[in-house]
Amino acid sequence: MTQETIQSTLEEIRVFEPPKSKALFSSLHDWKLASDAFQKDFEGTWGNLAQQHLTWQKLFTQVLDERNPPFYRWFADGNINLSENCLDRHVNNGLGEQVAIIWEGEPGDVRRITYNELLAEVCLAANGLKSLGIKKGDRVIIYMPMIPEAAIAMLACARIGATHSVVFAAFSAQALHDRIEDTGAKAVITADGGWRRGAIHDLKSCVDVALTQGCNSVEHVLIVKRGHHDTNWQEDRDVDWVDLLKAQADVCEPTIIEAEHPLFILYTSGSTGKPKGIVHSTAGYLLWAHLTMQYSFDFKPESDVFWCTADVGWITGHSYSVYGPLCNGGTTLMYEGVPTYPDAGRIWKICQDHGVTVFYTAPTAIRALIKAGDDYPNAYDLSKLRVLGTVGEPINPEAWMWYHTVIGKERCPIVDTWWQTETGGHMLAPMPFSIPTKPGSATLPLPGIFAGIVDAEGEDVKDGGGLLVLKKPWPSMLRGVWGDEQRFIETYWEKFAHKGYYFAGDGARKDEDGYFWIMGRVDDVLNVSGHRLGTMEVESALVSHHAVAEAAVVGRSDDIKGESVFAFVVLKEPESEGLEAILRAHVSKEIGPIAKPDTIRFADNLPKTRSGKIMRRLLRDIAAGRDINSDISTLEDQSVIAQLQG
Ligand code: WTA
Repeated sequence: MTQETIQSTLEEIRVFEPPKSKALFSSLHDWKLASDAFQKDFEGTWGNLAQQHLTWQKLFTQVLDERNPPFYRWFADGNINLSENCLDRHVNNGLGEQVAIIWEGEPGDVRRITYNELLAEVCLAANGLKSLGIKKGDRVIIYMPMIPEAAIAMLACARIGATHSVVFAAFSAQALHDRIEDTGAKAVITADGGWRRGAIHDLKSCVDVALTQGCNSVEHVLIVKRGHHDTNWQEDRDVDWVDLLKAQADVCEPTIIEAEHPLFILYTSGSTGKPKGIVHSTAGYLLWAHLTMQYSFDFKPESDVFWCTADVGWITGHSYSVYGPLCNGGTTLMYEGVPTYPDAGRIWKICQDHGVTVFYTAPTAIRALIKAGDDYPNAYDLSKLRVLGTVGEPINPEAWMWYHTVIGKERCPIVDTWWQTETGGHMLAPMPFSIPTKPGSATLPLPGIFAGIVDAEGEDVKDGGGLLVLKKPWPSMLRGVWGDEQRFIETYWEKFAHKGYYFAGDGARKDEDGYFWIMGRVDDVLNVSGHRLGTMEVESALVSHHAVAEAAVVGRSDDIKGESVFAFVVLKEPESEGLEAILRAHVSKEIGPIAKPDTIRFADNLPKTRSGKIMRRLLRDIAAGRDINSDISTLEDQSVIAQLQG
């Protein structure tokens, strides 16, 4: 979060009353009633919701098992199949002809897939996976463009109990390789390409590179032909998606799945080491993805067209492009391409053409669209919109106001949702027709969520800032870090173990109305365009280049991206011509384009304390061009400062 934004959010005093509407929750009183129910009977309330909203293969008898914290288990003796909840039950309820997915390709091709069709497709795919020997408990990597087959692949895995791990399509072959190795996946589902900015972005060739070394667990690569260009086909390994599905029956009984069975693993950045595989359960995760559609968006499956612009490679895409809307039996919109292609009006054109009613995107996208000018949104009919959401980073009040006035015409409530890959679904968010909003605040905890702001000892702070914690477990909480129990405990639970609180890694403050204002990460995690990046990850990528001896990476505030990557690099040899560009390309190859440093500054040394710790605060000041506030008296080599300042 930028210094300026922090300033302006601290001074923000505007309050917007929720519009009157026939909503599921339509007053502050409704929010309070729903929240109080959990105060009075925590487990009973969760249990009722789980029974009421989900279809169980076998009903649970115990709601929460907290015998072994932080290894909480929810609805553990129940059985439930997620795909049955997202598909079969709607078809059985007479909603088969309702559109489940509206998809628009970047070139403008459109598909509208009904629940009947989606169920049939998912069954074909599930049978296809089974025919390749993939069974419950196996891991499957999904590395796909935003095409319906990405959702179909996820649902097919869920149907047979294979744990999926979606890897964002813009991640590099190296990042893909690491995730394949870490999960020990048996299959990779990919495409020969997807449209990005008017050209085919080839994914299959990245898979080929990723699999050249190691990855011995992978037996099959399934390829959806979207790009229709030649690929280096490997007969013994590669399977054409259409050919595979053609040979299957379109009925596939949902496998019996235990509530706690790992539905998916999704990698996210932390402050140390490689990205960690966050593990989510089946029942608890699904329950919260389902409920938050109603709580945060007032989602009405019979009439809403919901568009979450996130890629399925992120948690937002999992919970709110696919599972949340489908579990509710609603219509979700997926768009393949770049939101500003062929121009900055594309998003608004899609909203108009498909009658989008609830729109959910990231502040970074909003800021980019503001820059493009109001003529773009003003050229389209946005009158169907009724709720607007944001996610991923703090939204600066100016962007909030633009979203509210230019897009929402002061009619649509703005729902600023704070949550994380680890939380599975929203934690803080204004229920749109219940909670008054303030630009830049994610407002209040949703019913069932017990959030707090504490000091380093875990004591509640009254005034000023502190650390954001979740005080009670919740159904969609992460169940672990794949293959690394210790890291799970250390990262999230150790800090406040004496209180049993979950430590989110964010700083926040509460105002006099009890509203939460997120101040940004308190660890070495950057938020670039709403995407999490560990500084360590980028540093490791830089150091893996032969010319680099040492690197330190910090964030610098950026008008559009929120934060940009700023790298300080010590070389092994004198700087050669074009090295900066080479290093940027190297990071892109190692991680992906989002991790590319915007600025690289070369120096003979990095500033370190006597004990050898890199002085990051100092580097952050230098990157920002601010006066240096750190104590540099302990610095070994004072002359390095001038060099670092460039
Ligand atoms: C940040 C994305 C302020 C925060 C769903 C969090 C936010 C991290 C908001 C999680 C918001 C997310 N306001 N900050 N509304 N939403 N963040 O795992 O720092 O990709 O810890 O999940 O993004 O990022 P992740």
